[in-house]
Amino acid sequence: MALDKDSFITMSDGNRIPVLGFGTYAPEDVPKGQCKAGVKAAIEVGFRHIDGAYLYQNEVEVGEAIREKIADGTVKREEIFCTGKLWVTFHPPELVRQGLEKSLKALQLDYIDLFLIHCPFSLKPGESIIPMDENGKIICHSVDLRATWEAMEACKDAGLVKSIGVSNFNRRQLELILNKPGLKHQPVCNQVECHVYLNQCKMLEFCKSKNIVLVAYQVLGSSRDKWIDQTTPVLLDDPVLLKIGLKYKKSSAQIAVRYILQRDIVVLAKSFTPEHIKQNIQVFDFHLAPEDMQAIDGLNRDMRYLPMKLYAEHPEYPFREEY
Ligand SMILES: NC(=O)c1ccc[n+]([C@@H]2O[C@H](COP(=O)([O-])OP(=O)(O)OC[C@H]3O[C@@H](n4cnc5c(N)ncnc54)[C@H](OP(=O)(O)O)[C@@H]3O)[C@@H](O)[C@H]2O)c1
Repeated sequence: MALDKDSFITMSDGNRIPVLGFGTYAPEDVPKGQCKAGVKAAIEVGFRHIDGAYLYQNEVEVGEAIREKIADGTVKREEIFCTGKLWVTFHPPELVRQGLEKSLKALQLDYIDLFLIHCPFSLKPGESIIPMDENGKIICHSVDLRATWEAMEACKDAGLVKSIGVSNFNRRQLELILNKPGLKHQPVCNQVECHVYLNQCKMLEFCKSKNIVLVAYQVLGSSRDKWIDQTTPVLLDDPVLLKIGLKYKKSSAQIAVRYILQRDIVVLAKSFTPEHIKQNIQVFDFHLAPEDMQAIDGLNRDMRYLPMKLYAEHPEYPFREEY
């Protein structure tokens, strides 16, 4: 079926996830008001899926934007698909619901549509978002991911979230959950870095075989902030994307988004610039021909913008394995 801006994928629990989502992460120095204006602009042009997280420290602004667009009649709550993520300092099962409730309180929402374990590794619980010791090393914590997952299931059963999933999990970590005795709800999705330089074909095949939706972040090549390896190539300057863009009269950003959508992957695209926000949803009036999809497949180099090296020594660091 042809994709349009209201297209969705039905997940394993029967709920629907819109194929195009709006990313809300911005570097620390970006004023939070830009996030609020960005989310409002996104809803105005037709985005219905908003991706947020406790980590981004802007859930107050995301919630205000959503509630203002509901109050002015642009959308109804049930038309918005809002994602939140459990940060790594809330992995002990007794802290999971607390972690979620902090987000709900900041968002001022009664429920969110999708709640993800943000990363498979766990850090010491407490006030600090990234707890470090006096030598500047992260303070790891050991929690069985399956116990965290059971607490996620309880959040769904309590009606605080409609669907539950994971993010940045490798295949082994996904299988750990999938093979858990007594599994009540399987993860509906795995949200991972995925773009033309990291096309995730093996993870995609695995997820499809298990009825797990792949959700792609950094489709536009990331915001290139301090967490990003600055020697990496600028994705939107890629000559192949620019050349294919000329053929379809589209920007490299639109080609990058469309390529991922045509592979049955949900796309997250962040922008707080009104022109870009409009552009990023204008990806449903063209179709990339097989030879162009193939040319873009050829760009893959299994390169991560966000290798999360800070966590590389953690036993549950996900990127040591091939996928
Ligand atoms: N689960 C995870 O661990 C994880 C990790 C990273 C990201 N995410 C989620 O995924 C979302 C997307 O990832 P991201 O924000 O890192 O990167 P991204 O969406 O790949 O790229 C964002 C950057 O692209 C620019 N941009 C957007 N549209 C453009 C256009 N049409 N033309 C030119 N430049 C454009 C933006 O600048 P302007 O704002 O000026 O347009 C911004 O600098 C995040 O916001 C977050 O919600 C999740």
